[in-house]
Amino acid sequence: MQDSFPIRKVDHVHHFVNNARQSAYFYQHILGFSITGFSGLETGSKDQVDYLLEQADLKLLFSAPVRPGHAMAEKIAYHGDFVRDIAFEVDDVDWAYKTAVERGAKGFQSPITLEDDFGKVRRASIHTYGDVLHSFINRDGYKGHFLPGFRRENEPGDAIGLVEVDHCVGNVELGQMNVWVKFYEDVLGFKQLISFDDKDISTDYTALMSKVMANGNGRVKFPINEPAPGKKRSQIDEYLDFFGGAGVQHVALRTDDIVYTVSRMKARGLEFLSVPRSYYDMLPDRVGRIDEDIDVLAELGILVDRDDEGYLLQIFTKPITDRPTLFYEIIHRKGAKSFGKGNFKALFESIEREQALRGTL
Ligand code: FE2
Repeated sequence: MQDSFPIRKVDHVHHFVNNARQSAYFYQHILGFSITGFSGLETGSKDQVDYLLEQADLKLLFSAPVRPGHAMAEKIAYHGDFVRDIAFEVDDVDWAYKTAVERGAKGFQSPITLEDDFGKVRRASIHTYGDVLHSFINRDGYKGHFLPGFRRENEPGDAIGLVEVDHCVGNVELGQMNVWVKFYEDVLGFKQLISFDDKDISTDYTALMSKVMANGNGRVKFPINEPAPGKKRSQIDEYLDFFGGAGVQHVALRTDDIVYTVSRMKARGLEFLSVPRSYYDMLPDRVGRIDEDIDVLAELGILVDRDDEGYLLQIFTKPITDRPTLFYEIIHRKGAKSFGKGNFKALFESIEREQALRGTL
Protein backbone atom coordinates (compact mmCIF):
# COMPACT_ATOMS: atom_id res chain seq x y z
CA MET A 1 0.00 0.00 0.00
CA GLN A 2 1.26 3.46 -0.83
CA ASP A 3 2.24 5.75 2.04
CA SER A 4 0.44 9.04 1.41
CA PHE A 5 2.58 10.91 3.96
CA PRO A 6 6.07 9.45 4.43
CA ILE A 7 7.42 9.97 7.96
CA ARG A 8 10.67 8.24 8.88
CA LYS A 9 10.16 8.22 12.66
CA VAL A 10 9.68 10.37 15.75
CA ASP A 11 12.73 12.62 15.73
CA HIS A 12 12.43 13.99 19.25
CA VAL A 13 9.90 14.83 21.94
CA HIS A 14 10.09 18.48 22.95
CA HIS A 15 9.03 19.52 26.46
CA PHE A 16 8.36 23.08 27.64
CA VAL A 17 9.33 23.25 31.31
CA ASN A 18 9.84 25.83 34.03
CA ASN A 19 13.38 24.79 34.82
CA ALA A 20 15.18 22.90 32.07
CA ARG A 21 18.34 22.42 34.13
CA GLN A 22 16.41 20.51 36.81
CA SER A 23 14.44 18.53 34.21
CA ALA A 24 17.70 17.53 32.55
CA TYR A 25 19.03 16.41 35.94
CA PHE A 26 15.93 14.26 36.53
CA TYR A 27 16.07 12.59 33.11
CA GLN A 28 19.81 12.06 33.41
CA HIS A 29 19.89 10.64 36.93
CA ILE A 30 16.55 8.81 37.09
CA LEU A 31 15.96 7.71 33.49
CA GLY A 32 19.61 7.36 32.46
CA PHE A 33 19.69 9.83 29.58
CA SER A 34 22.92 11.58 28.59
CA ILE A 35 22.99 15.34 28.24
CA THR A 36 24.38 15.73 24.72
CA GLY A 37 23.44 19.22 23.62
CA PHE A 38 22.90 22.70 25.04
CA SER A 39 21.80 26.07 23.81
CA GLY A 40 21.46 29.10 26.08
CA LEU A 41 22.91 32.44 27.06
CA GLU A 42 26.44 31.02 26.76
CA THR A 43 25.86 30.00 23.13
CA GLY A 44 24.16 33.22 22.07
CA SER A 45 20.52 32.32 22.71
CA LYS A 46 19.02 35.47 24.22
CA ASP A 47 15.84 34.42 25.98
CA GLN A 48 15.61 30.66 26.43
CA VAL A 49 17.64 27.62 27.33
CA ASP A 50 17.47 24.19 25.65
CA TYR A 51 18.90 20.87 26.83
CA LEU A 52 19.08 17.84 24.53
CA LEU A 53 19.09 14.42 26.19
CA GLU A 54 19.69 11.12 24.41
CA GLN A 55 19.57 7.40 25.11
CA ALA A 56 19.99 4.93 22.22
CA ASP A 57 17.57 6.21 19.54
CA LEU A 58 15.64 8.46 21.97
CA LYS A 59 15.96 12.23 21.85
CA LEU A 60 14.24 14.47 24.40
CA LEU A 61 14.49 18.24 24.26
CA PHE A 62 13.74 20.49 27.26
CA SER A 63 13.25 24.22 26.81
CA ALA A 64 12.65 26.91 29.41
CA PRO A 65 12.38 30.71 29.24
CA VAL A 66 15.12 32.70 31.01
CA ARG A 67 13.42 36.11 30.95
CA PRO A 68 9.96 37.40 31.93
CA GLY A 69 7.45 37.90 29.16
CA HIS A 70 8.54 34.95 27.01
CA ALA A 71 5.65 33.40 25.05
CA MET A 72 6.71 29.97 26.30
CA ALA A 73 6.22 31.11 29.91
CA GLU A 74 2.51 31.75 29.33
CA LYS A 75 1.99 28.22 28.03
CA ILE A 76 3.89 26.74 30.98
CA ALA A 77 1.97 28.89 33.46
CA TYR A 78 -1.26 27.50 32.01
CA HIS A 79 -0.39 23.82 31.49
CA GLY A 80 2.55 23.22 33.81
CA ASP A 81 5.53 21.39 32.28
CA PHE A 82 4.20 19.71 29.13
CA VAL A 83 4.96 18.05 25.81
CA ARG A 84 4.86 20.85 23.26
CA ASP A 85 6.04 19.06 20.14
CA ILE A 86 6.32 15.51 18.86
CA ALA A 87 8.74 16.13 16.01
CA PHE A 88 8.99 13.89 12.95
CA GLU A 89 11.96 13.20 10.74
CA VAL A 90 10.82 13.42 7.11
CA ASP A 91 12.43 13.18 3.66
CA ASP A 92 11.14 16.53 2.44
CA VAL A 93 10.10 19.25 4.90
CA ASP A 94 8.72 21.61 2.26
CA TRP A 95 6.54 18.91 0.71
CA ALA A 96 5.37 17.73 4.16
CA TYR A 97 4.36 21.19 5.32
CA LYS A 98 2.68 22.19 2.06
CA THR A 99 0.80 18.89 1.82
CA ALA A 100 -0.31 18.92 5.47
CA VAL A 101 -1.65 22.46 5.17
CA GLU A 102 -3.39 21.68 1.86
CA ARG A 103 -5.05 18.71 3.57
CA GLY A 104 -6.37 20.90 6.38
CA ALA A 105 -3.64 21.24 9.02
CA LYS A 106 -3.16 24.60 10.68
CA GLY A 107 0.39 25.79 10.08
CA PHE A 108 2.49 27.01 13.00
CA GLN A 109 5.85 27.68 11.31
CA SER A 110 6.34 27.58 7.55
CA PRO A 111 9.60 25.96 6.35
CA ILE A 112 12.78 27.69 7.48
CA THR A 113 16.47 26.88 7.12
CA LEU A 114 18.61 26.73 10.26
CA GLU A 115 22.29 27.04 9.45
CA ASP A 116 25.73 27.03 11.04
CA ASP A 117 29.28 26.02 10.07
CA PHE A 118 28.21 22.35 9.93
CA GLY A 119 25.50 22.77 7.34
CA LYS A 120 21.77 23.29 7.07
CA VAL A 121 18.64 21.84 8.63
CA ARG A 122 15.18 22.44 7.19
CA ARG A 123 12.28 22.64 9.62
CA ALA A 124 8.53 23.47 9.74
CA SER A 125 5.66 22.86 12.21
CA ILE A 126 1.90 22.29 12.23
CA HIS A 127 -0.63 22.28 15.04
CA THR A 128 -2.34 19.14 16.29
CA TYR A 129 -4.67 18.78 19.33
CA GLY A 130 -4.50 21.36 22.12
CA ASP A 131 -1.21 23.24 22.32
CA VAL A 132 0.74 20.37 20.79
CA LEU A 133 2.73 20.71 17.55
CA HIS A 134 4.25 18.33 15.05
CA SER A 135 7.49 19.62 13.58
CA PHE A 136 8.91 18.23 10.35
CA ILE A 137 12.71 18.05 10.33
CA ASN A 138 15.30 16.99 7.80
CA ARG A 139 19.01 17.11 8.67
CA ASP A 140 20.35 14.98 5.80
CA GLY A 141 22.62 17.86 4.80
CA TYR A 142 23.84 18.57 8.33
CA LYS A 143 27.10 17.36 9.85
CA GLY A 144 26.68 19.02 13.25
CA HIS A 145 24.94 17.81 16.37
CA PHE A 146 21.10 17.91 16.51
CA LEU A 147 20.33 21.44 15.28
CA PRO A 148 22.35 24.51 14.38
CA GLY A 149 22.99 26.62 17.48
CA PHE A 150 23.47 23.67 19.83
CA ARG A 151 26.75 23.16 21.61
CA ARG A 152 27.76 19.52 21.98
CA GLU A 153 27.78 18.37 25.62
CA ASN A 154 29.25 15.23 27.09
CA GLU A 155 27.51 14.50 30.39
CA PRO A 156 26.79 10.78 30.22
CA GLY A 157 23.92 9.27 32.14
CA ASP A 158 23.92 5.73 33.47
CA ALA A 159 21.72 4.25 30.70
CA ILE A 160 18.95 1.84 31.74
CA GLY A 161 18.20 0.19 28.39
CA LEU A 162 15.61 2.56 26.94
CA VAL A 163 15.69 2.24 23.16
CA GLU A 164 13.08 4.35 21.38
CA VAL A 165 9.62 5.92 21.57
CA ASP A 166 7.04 3.13 21.22
CA HIS A 167 3.92 5.33 21.21
CA CYS A 168 2.63 8.72 22.41
CA VAL A 169 -0.90 9.03 23.78
CA GLY A 170 -3.10 12.11 23.43
CA ASN A 171 -6.07 12.93 25.67
CA VAL A 172 -8.75 15.00 23.93
CA GLU A 173 -12.10 16.41 25.02
CA LEU A 174 -15.39 14.50 24.94
CA GLY A 175 -16.55 14.15 21.33
CA GLN A 176 -13.14 15.10 19.90
CA MET A 177 -11.55 11.65 19.49
CA ASN A 178 -13.00 11.07 16.03
CA VAL A 179 -12.14 14.61 14.96
CA TRP A 180 -8.45 13.93 15.66
CA VAL A 181 -8.60 10.40 14.27
CA LYS A 182 -9.80 11.98 11.03
CA PHE A 183 -7.03 14.59 11.22
CA TYR A 184 -4.33 11.91 11.43
CA GLU A 185 -6.02 9.95 8.61
CA ASP A 186 -6.70 12.86 6.25
CA VAL A 187 -3.65 15.01 6.90
CA LEU A 188 -0.83 12.63 7.87
CA GLY A 189 -2.01 9.43 6.14
CA PHE A 190 -2.28 7.44 9.39
CA LYS A 191 -4.45 4.30 9.60
CA GLN A 192 -6.50 3.15 12.55
CA LEU A 193 -4.92 0.04 14.11
CA ILE A 194 -7.32 -0.66 16.94
CA SER A 195 -10.31 0.83 18.67
CA PHE A 196 -11.36 0.38 22.31
CA ASP A 197 -14.77 1.40 23.53
CA ASP A 198 -16.10 1.93 27.01
CA LYS A 199 -16.88 -1.80 27.35
CA ASP A 200 -13.17 -2.58 26.93
CA ILE A 201 -11.93 0.25 29.10
CA SER A 202 -14.23 0.62 32.02
CA THR A 203 -14.36 -0.14 35.71
CA ASP A 204 -17.29 0.14 38.08
CA TYR A 205 -16.70 3.89 38.12
CA THR A 206 -15.08 5.33 35.04
CA ALA A 207 -14.62 4.72 31.34
CA LEU A 208 -12.77 5.98 28.31
CA MET A 209 -12.67 5.45 24.58
CA SER A 210 -9.48 5.07 22.59
CA LYS A 211 -8.40 4.65 18.98
CA VAL A 212 -4.84 3.80 18.02
CA MET A 213 -3.48 5.49 14.89
CA ALA A 214 -0.27 4.49 13.08
CA ASN A 215 1.66 6.11 10.24
CA GLY A 216 2.47 4.49 6.90
CA ASN A 217 5.63 2.66 7.96
CA GLY A 218 4.09 1.71 11.35
CA ARG A 219 6.88 3.31 13.38
CA VAL A 220 4.77 6.19 14.70
CA LYS A 221 1.85 5.10 16.90
CA PHE A 222 -0.55 7.55 18.52
CA PRO A 223 -3.45 6.29 20.64
CA ILE A 224 -6.07 9.03 21.14
CA ASN A 225 -8.32 8.92 24.21
CA GLU A 226 -11.52 10.70 25.12
CA PRO A 227 -13.55 10.39 28.32
CA ALA A 228 -16.70 8.26 28.33
CA PRO A 229 -19.61 8.71 30.74
CA GLY A 230 -19.22 6.72 33.98
CA LYS A 231 -20.49 6.84 37.54
CA LYS A 232 -17.54 9.01 38.54
CA ARG A 233 -15.03 11.29 36.91
CA SER A 234 -12.69 9.47 34.54
CA GLN A 235 -8.91 9.78 34.52
CA ILE A 236 -9.23 11.58 31.16
CA ASP A 237 -11.54 14.22 32.69
CA GLU A 238 -9.07 14.64 35.53
CA TYR A 239 -6.25 15.16 33.00
CA LEU A 240 -8.24 17.67 30.90
CA ASP A 241 -9.13 19.64 34.06
CA PHE A 242 -5.63 19.86 35.46
CA PHE A 243 -3.88 20.27 32.11
CA GLY A 244 -6.31 22.84 30.78
CA GLY A 245 -7.41 21.03 27.62
CA ALA A 246 -6.15 18.36 25.27
CA GLY A 247 -2.53 17.25 25.54
CA VAL A 248 -0.05 14.39 25.68
CA GLN A 249 -0.99 11.97 28.47
CA HIS A 250 1.86 9.49 28.30
CA VAL A 251 4.88 8.58 26.26
CA ALA A 252 5.75 4.88 26.06
CA LEU A 253 9.47 4.14 25.98
CA ARG A 254 10.56 0.78 24.64
CA THR A 255 13.16 -1.42 26.35
CA ASP A 256 14.50 -4.86 25.43
CA ASP A 257 14.94 -5.83 29.09
CA ILE A 258 12.10 -4.50 31.21
CA VAL A 259 13.21 -6.23 34.42
CA TYR A 260 16.59 -4.48 34.21
CA THR A 261 15.12 -1.12 33.18
CA VAL A 262 12.42 -1.04 35.85
CA SER A 263 14.73 -2.34 38.59
CA ARG A 264 17.07 0.55 37.90
CA MET A 265 14.26 3.12 37.82
CA LYS A 266 12.88 1.83 41.13
CA ALA A 267 16.32 1.81 42.73
CA ARG A 268 16.57 5.48 41.76
CA GLY A 269 13.30 6.26 43.49
CA LEU A 270 10.77 6.55 40.65
CA GLU A 271 7.25 5.53 41.66
CA PHE A 272 5.00 3.29 39.57
CA LEU A 273 1.34 2.31 39.63
CA SER A 274 0.84 -0.96 41.43
CA VAL A 275 -1.66 -3.78 40.98
CA PRO A 276 -2.89 -6.22 43.65
CA ARG A 277 -1.05 -9.52 44.20
CA SER A 278 -4.13 -11.35 42.85
CA TYR A 279 -3.21 -10.02 39.38
CA TYR A 280 -0.17 -12.32 39.43
CA ASP A 281 -2.08 -15.33 40.75
CA MET A 282 -4.26 -15.17 37.62
CA LEU A 283 -1.39 -14.40 35.25
CA PRO A 284 -0.33 -17.94 34.18
CA ASP A 285 -3.89 -18.79 33.14
CA ARG A 286 -4.29 -15.54 31.28
CA VAL A 287 -1.02 -15.31 29.33
CA GLY A 288 0.39 -18.85 29.32
CA ARG A 289 4.12 -19.53 29.33
CA ILE A 290 6.46 -16.55 29.45
CA ASP A 291 10.24 -16.28 29.73
CA GLU A 292 10.21 -14.13 32.86
CA ASP A 293 9.90 -15.25 36.48
CA ILE A 294 6.43 -14.22 37.67
CA ASP A 295 7.69 -13.57 41.20
CA VAL A 296 10.19 -11.06 39.83
CA LEU A 297 7.47 -9.37 37.77
CA ALA A 298 5.20 -9.24 40.85
CA GLU A 299 8.00 -7.76 42.96
CA LEU A 300 8.48 -4.98 40.40
CA GLY A 301 4.77 -4.59 39.50
CA ILE A 302 5.31 -5.33 35.79
CA LEU A 303 2.15 -6.25 33.84
CA VAL A 304 1.86 -8.81 31.02
CA ASP A 305 -0.58 -9.21 28.15
CA ARG A 306 -0.76 -11.57 25.18
CA ASP A 307 -2.18 -11.15 21.68
CA ASP A 308 -2.16 -13.31 18.51
CA GLU A 309 1.46 -12.48 17.74
CA GLY A 310 3.15 -12.78 21.11
CA TYR A 311 3.19 -11.02 24.44
CA LEU A 312 4.24 -7.72 25.94
CA LEU A 313 5.35 -6.49 29.34
CA GLN A 314 4.51 -2.99 30.53
CA ILE A 315 4.42 -0.72 33.56
CA PHE A 316 3.29 2.86 34.17
CA THR A 317 4.90 5.53 36.31
CA LYS A 318 2.87 7.81 38.52
CA PRO A 319 2.62 11.34 37.06
CA ILE A 320 6.08 12.89 36.84
CA THR A 321 4.81 16.45 37.26
CA ASP A 322 3.04 18.18 40.18
CA ARG A 323 -0.19 18.09 38.22
CA PRO A 324 -1.70 14.64 37.57
CA THR A 325 -0.93 14.92 33.85
CA LEU A 326 2.14 13.48 32.09
CA PHE A 327 3.42 10.01 32.94
CA TYR A 328 5.60 7.38 31.28
CA GLU A 329 5.01 3.81 30.23
CA ILE A 330 7.89 1.37 29.92
CA ILE A 331 7.10 -1.36 27.38
CA HIS A 332 8.93 -4.51 26.31
CA ARG A 333 7.49 -6.24 23.23
CA LYS A 334 7.98 -9.95 22.68
CA GLY A 335 6.10 -10.29 19.42
CA ALA A 336 2.93 -8.50 20.52
CA LYS A 337 2.09 -5.35 18.57
CA SER A 338 -0.91 -4.40 20.73
CA PHE A 339 -1.22 -2.13 23.76
CA GLY A 340 -2.10 -4.27 26.77
CA LYS A 341 -5.89 -4.43 26.59
CA GLY A 342 -5.91 -7.31 29.10
CA ASN A 343 -4.35 -4.97 31.69
CA PHE A 344 -6.73 -2.06 31.27
CA LYS A 345 -9.10 -3.00 34.06
CA ALA A 346 -6.39 -3.67 36.65
CA LEU A 347 -4.60 -0.50 35.61
CA PHE A 348 -7.60 1.77 35.71
CA GLU A 349 -8.53 0.49 39.14
CA SER A 350 -5.00 1.39 40.18
CA ILE A 351 -5.35 4.88 38.68
CA GLU A 352 -8.69 5.31 40.47
CA ARG A 353 -7.03 4.51 43.81
CA GLU A 354 -4.62 7.36 43.06
CA GLN A 355 -7.47 9.65 41.96
CA ALA A 356 -9.31 8.89 45.22
CA LEU A 357 -6.20 9.97 47.16
CA ARG A 358 -6.18 13.22 45.17
CA GLY A 359 -9.91 13.70 45.79
CA THR A 360 -10.58 13.84 42.06
CA LEU A 361 -12.54 10.65 41.43
FE1 FE2 B 1 0.45 3.22 26.34
